[in-house]
Amino acid sequence: MTEARLKIALTKGRVEQQVLPLLEQAGIDCDLIRHKQRRLIFDSPTQPYEFILAKGPDVTTFLERGAADIGIVGSDILVEHRSTQYELLDLGVGRCQFILASTADFDPDAPQRKIIGTKYPLITKRYFDQLGQDVEIIKIEGSVELAPLTGLADAIVDITETGTTLRENHLQIYDYLQPVSTRLVVNRLALKQQQAAIYDLVDRLAAVVNATTPKEQIK
Ligand code: PRP
Repeated sequence: MTEARLKIALTKGRVEQQVLPLLEQAGIDCDLIRHKQRRLIFDSPTQPYEFILAKGPDVTTFLERGAADIGIVGSDILVEHRSTQYELLDLGVGRCQFILASTADFDPDAPQRKIIGTKYPLITKRYFDQLGQDVEIIKIEGSVELAPLTGLADAIVDITETGTTLRENHLQIYDYLQPVSTRLVVNRLALKQQQAAIYDLVDRLAAVVNATTPKEQIK
């Protein structure tokens, strides 16, 4: 009997770059992904895994529709897309922070109704709801930092990792919302049907994470 392949949806870009070393340390050959060019699906040559490279929000869609068994994706995307899949592991990479940021003349305590630009309308609404503030939210797809610089919005809610984008665009942080990191999530039906294979992968990755993540950063 041929072994079923675990379908793993991996968020391409920054998450992919930070997760590939972990997968390799867990014994998974990622050479094909490293030299992928425009290919999007990869069969591991030595193990029963199929990797699907997708954008973060689509990783949650693949998982929810059962087109992938496992998803590797930022917690920012999971919260924003109200993912209801099981989260099995914090991979300890992709660490960044949700922030409220704007230009130096922004007054977070000003009484006027604010306009906020963001890729994360749900997280933004929850934040301002907690503050008891009704704001207008403008959904932006990328380079959110442009919004306060061009007058499109008063401020932004976004993620920052190194702080370089904010610094280079002369924006400052007014508040910290919540931390973000890359998570391994699993489709509930897949967990029932392929439990042994999924836990084998999760255990190997957890061992790598525990060996490489400073103790104070492990949840
Ligand atoms: C994210 C985020 C910031 C940037 C922050 O954007 O929206 O723009 O990273 O990172 P830094 O603090 O390390 O500078 P991303 O790179 O995902 O691109 P996008 O703006 O096109 O979505």
